[in-house]
Amino acid sequence: MPTFQAFYVSENEDKTFSRQIIERSTDDLPAGEVLIRVKYSSLNYKDALSSSGNRGVTRNYPHTPGIDAAGIVEESNSDELSVGEQVIVTGFDLGMNTAGGFGQYIRVPAKWVVKLPRGLRLKESMIFGTAGLTAALCIDKLLQTGLTPDKGKVIVTGATGGVGTMAVMILAKLGFAVVGVTGKPEGEAFLLNLGAKEVVSREAVNDQSGKPMLKGIYAGCVDTVGGNILATILKSMQYNGVVSLCGLVQSPELPTTVFPFILRGVSMFGIDSSECDIEWRKKMWKNLAKKWKPEGIQSITRTVGLKGLDKEIRKILKGGQMGRVVVRL
Ligand SMILES: NC(=O)c1ccc[n+]([C@@H]2O[C@H](COP(=O)([O-])OP(=O)(O)OC[C@H]3O[C@@H](n4cnc5c(N)ncnc54)[C@H](OP(=O)(O)O)[C@@H]3O)[C@@H](O)[C@H]2O)c1
Repeated sequence: MPTFQAFYVSENEDKTFSRQIIERSTDDLPAGEVLIRVKYSSLNYKDALSSSGNRGVTRNYPHTPGIDAAGIVEESNSDELSVGEQVIVTGFDLGMNTAGGFGQYIRVPAKWVVKLPRGLRLKESMIFGTAGLTAALCIDKLLQTGLTPDKGKVIVTGATGGVGTMAVMILAKLGFAVVGVTGKPEGEAFLLNLGAKEVVSREAVNDQSGKPMLKGIYAGCVDTVGGNILATILKSMQYNGVVSLCGLVQSPELPTTVFPFILRGVSMFGIDSSECDIEWRKKMWKNLAKKWKPEGIQSITRTVGLKGLDKEIRKILKGGQMGRVVVRL
């Protein structure tokens, strides 16, 4: 059986964690119907947590993280997937407790696998990765409620991060007036360049007044940060405003009241890209391949090999990433 290179996180005797690149055998991979030669992966916040020994993401170490993988089917016991087919796997248990996309091979259940849609290259699929899929799911939820560009501005938090960047670009492509929230001084020019109409600082949406409601400004929101920023935005939604939330980079707490919901008819939807329905996923991948595909996704992407990952992991843990990091395997 072939050996391959994999990024490997192990626990030391003193309970700290080490990251290295090792040689593994495909015999070491879990049982599954499809063996995939991974060509590209991508770096997400969750990968950085798994790479740092976060037991909320990965219970057992040693482990190969990587919640995203795009590659070519090398062995298949599924009638749906043929050898040589180009495929994408994101979420489910990949990279959490199943050896993930930071290795040159993965073996997974067939039901986790999505065929690469026409219009998308393998590398492009990983520029999107879980971040792009999550942004697409958040936006689709907003659209399902009837949100249209004429209803008003859509605010995106954590806007220079992976999910945020993707949400800004897709919303701008769909004709929405996007307001990006960023904590980075260099974020303003970056976001305006991606198509945002306005950029505000994190402080501007971190209300400490204690008021139950604020002026209604936004028709929609994609939130990746939670905490008091999300609470402030809830108070700042227009009548019938709609929020999709997916992240907790500021805080998992949500210090809010019922007022935005009962006084302004605000709705809020949670998005989980890792376990969501496979048909919804396939539909979103088709959108990303075609009508939602923003121009210039290459321009927000840096590509690294396994050796370059450690530095990028440290940066994302500090909230310092802008755009997307693709991993070439
Ligand atoms: N539910 C799901 O299916 C799903 C899927 C993917 C990701 N997520 C979650 O979504 C979040 C974002 O993921 P990501 O991969 O996009 O991460 P990321 O690339 O690190 O982006 C997060 C961004 O949040 C902002 N930020 C950082 N620290 C902050 C703080 N203390 N307060 C406010 N904003 C802060 C930064 O952007 P600025 O500097 O521009 O403010 C940062 O770039 C994470 O919590 C992740 O776990 C959930």
